[in-house]
Amino acid sequence: MYKSFLVIFVLALFISSCSHYDEIQKNAKESAAGDDESHNSGQNCMSCHNKGGYNEAVQEGGWWNIAGTAYQSGNTANEGSIELWTGPNRTGSLIYKLPIDILGNFYTGKIVNFKGGAFPVLIDKNGNMNKAMQSSTLNGACNSCHGVSTPVISFN
Ligand code: HEC
Ligand code: HEC
Repeated sequence: MYKSFLVIFVLALFISSCSHYDEIQKNAKESAAGDDESHNSGQNCMSCHNKGGYNEAVQEGGWWNIAGTAYQSGNTANEGSIELWTGPNRTGSLIYKLPIDILGNFYTGKIVNFKGGAFPVLIDKNGNMNKAMQSSTLNGACNSCHGVSTPVISFN
């Protein structure tokens, strides 16, 4: 008797945590082509929209798992996308594709599995590779390095 209660309890817990996960995934905000809802281009988005950030940023904005800014000719870019691959220079398999909005920003609240380390690639509006990061990263806070310890992410 006790055992079957326990099984049902654990099962219920499991199911509710699953649907909570699905809910987070479904409602998670993400950048889209043409969007202008973002702001603070070039700043490290995760200093506010992630662990150690601000409640207001996380609750009214979102919790970003990947976010950053792309540039073109010294201005913020307004099209194209970012891809994450399992191998360098767009090899292996595609982990995730994220559009760049009209403020140059890309961001997602969706939970993305970096699969042990992802290789970021900058993709132009026609879907072609423009630039590729040669090392892999587990860190989705692109602007924590780009524009700080290494040049900004920029189209040729
Ligand atoms: C200094 C803290 C801070 C930084 C840095 C920051 N944000 Fe925010 N963000 C906020 C706050 C606070 C809000 C909620 C209030 C508002 O909309 O201004 C917000 C809201 C947003 C929203 C609005 C969501 C909606 O529902 O309208 C988006 C999108 C967003 N931020 C994207 C970004 C991106 C992308 C970056 C990095 C390029 C970034 N933010 C950097 C504090 C920050
Ligand atoms: C830990 C620091 C760090 C993080 C985090 C990081 N990068 Fe990089 N990135 C670098 C460095 C250093 C280089 C240059 C060396 C290389 O390619 O490995 C680089 C190179 C690049 C390049 C190629 C630039 C060129 O001029 O050829 C692109 C594109 C890029 N990164 C995109 C991204 C994106 C998108 C993210 C977030 C998903 C990201 N990076 C996160 C450090 C980082």
